[in-house]
Amino acid sequence: MTVESVNQLPSDQEFYLFQQLILQRLGIFLPLQKKALLTNRLWKRLRECDLTTYEDYYNFIVGKKGEAELHLAMELITTNETYFFREQKHFDYLEQSILPNFKSGKKLRVWSAAASTGEEPYSIAMLLADKCQTEWELECSDVNKTVIEQARRAIYPNARIQNIPRNYLHRFCRKGIGPQDGFVRVTQDLRDKVNFFTLNLNQSFPDLGKFDLVFLRNVLIYFENDTKAKVLDRIANMLNPNGVLFVGHSESLHGVTQRFAPIKPAIYRLV
Ligand SMILES: C[S@@+](CC[C@H](N)C(=O)[O-])C[C@H]1O[C@@H](n2cnc3c(N)ncnc32)[C@H](O)[C@@H]1O
Repeated sequence: MTVESVNQLPSDQEFYLFQQLILQRLGIFLPLQKKALLTNRLWKRLRECDLTTYEDYYNFIVGKKGEAELHLAMELITTNETYFFREQKHFDYLEQSILPNFKSGKKLRVWSAAASTGEEPYSIAMLLADKCQTEWELECSDVNKTVIEQARRAIYPNARIQNIPRNYLHRFCRKGIGPQDGFVRVTQDLRDKVNFFTLNLNQSFPDLGKFDLVFLRNVLIYFENDTKAKVLDRIANMLNPNGVLFVGHSESLHGVTQRFAPIKPAIYRLV
């Protein structure tokens, strides 16, 4: 199978090699119908590596010298779509129902566990900086090193900041000038409050301490049920009693785990 044309798909056999690898590494199950997606994400990279078949590329990335390339391939495969204040109802719930009831004197610990390029964590951070009466801490992770580096830089094109409330834009973002015209950067003060690191949800977690809130949004959707259950179990072990979990609005925990009870759509409490 050559990759001279964009449309050339891997054979079923080649696809299955990648399917197993992605499942093993990321916990993401790509059904056969996603062959075109795999091709779109990888064909250019094959050419850059001067390889002509998907099988050769597979052998390269699982081989002794392939570790760095394997990371890169996994990064190409993950979907990083995100935006500021996505799923506004979660932010309303946080502001109206969680923050007013959180015991003062205690530090609120929050984890954004599929942080992507930072829009989710900085949205949370803006709200906490504005409304949280107690000390707070925000830990943020993603399997993809490249998006974590982007998140740390915290520079966003103007086209991506429309959902940020105007007063938050004034307070927490600075307009770029010169070559940075058309971009904003999250203020140093807010950046300093947020900690980013890489973490694969599909592997055992390091000791991060216990959290009060976990945002695990729009990532479970890529996992098959068995992986979902294992990830949710690990997350449950990281939560304080009464801890709250936010998932994406198209993700349900129904039939997957008994460790969480629904409070509102896409919001769960540790049982
Ligand atoms: C669609 S984005 C969601 C971003 C954000 N949570 C939101 O809702 O806007 C999914 C993120 O999950 C990350 N991801 C995928 N598999 C992962 C894994 N096994 N461990 C950690 N993060 C993973 C991807 O790298 C990507 O950044």
